[in-house]
Amino acid sequence: MLSVVPRPVTVRVPAKVNLHLGVGLPRRDGYHELTTVFQALSLSDTISVVPADELSITVTGDSAREVPVDGTNLAWRAAELMARIAGREPAVAITIAKGIPVAGGMAGGSADAAGTLVALARMWHLEIGRDKMRDLAAELGSDVPFSLRGGTALGTGRGEKLTTVLSRGEYHWVLAVAKEGLSTPEVFRELDHLRENYSSADDTGTYTESPDELLQALASGDPRRVADLLHNDMQPAALSMRPALRRTLRAGVDAGALAGIISGSGPTCAFLCTDSDAAVTTAAELSGAGVCRAVRTATGPVAGARLIDGSL
Ligand code: C5P
Repeated sequence: MLSVVPRPVTVRVPAKVNLHLGVGLPRRDGYHELTTVFQALSLSDTISVVPADELSITVTGDSAREVPVDGTNLAWRAAELMARIAGREPAVAITIAKGIPVAGGMAGGSADAAGTLVALARMWHLEIGRDKMRDLAAELGSDVPFSLRGGTALGTGRGEKLTTVLSRGEYHWVLAVAKEGLSTPEVFRELDHLRENYSSADDTGTYTESPDELLQALASGDPRRVADLLHNDMQPAALSMRPALRRTLRAGVDAGALAGIISGSGPTCAFLCTDSDAAVTTAAELSGAGVCRAVRTATGPVAGARLIDGSL
């Protein structure tokens, strides 16, 4: 008898870098009020789903062994959420091919959740509008709505409320991937701790002002202007937890980048370069400097979670 092997539904989802990350004081619900500018990068995870007897996750690629394959994986929670919406069991096998650094401050886990939502909506033929998808994404995590949407966007609230940012041109990045990841909640806690010890006038809440100059620079499409305005309030906390990242940041600039910044909660360091040639030479030099586990190049902005042609 012929057995029919189900075709997987496959979705590609980008990494993100925060060009600006203003972090306010902790809210009553434990989250921090943010004002952030996200850019989606060409580094991506690929998520495939097929019907199965029960929910499972398999991870392949760089650092796959560090990714949980149980209910602590956001993709697992995305499958359970979508199954509830569909009124069915989450009986799917999810495969995640990691291209995004694990626990690297580049929304890898959020990407996998966004990809699972999109893949299951297609596999189960669910008619879910954009607004509903965005709400489901926000329920899963603060960065998941941006992983769905991609491009360049201003994020407020805990990062989940998005408005489009006008961005001209293509930006060329070099990413220094660290040997070990950092836990986002721990970096937020370290930031609170640093601020308790060194309280400043900024504690009145000016952290989350709109980054207007950066928005203008993005509209101009000049990477030099953008590089001068990269800012991350979480950087001191990530550097306090991983002092060696200072060396990595210096090495990237010495290797030819316009500027370097910790990506989100880190520890990935993101370096903005003038053009693709500069990114390639910076990446080559940084690789030889021995300050990180791996070096990648990427461009942005790119689209958010997208079905790959040929998926059902
Ligand atoms: O939203 P998400 O579940 O991805 O956030 C992970 C953790 O990061 C939260 O539990 C919280 O500790 C921290 N966080 C925060 N403020 C934000 C976003 C995340 O404190 N705006």
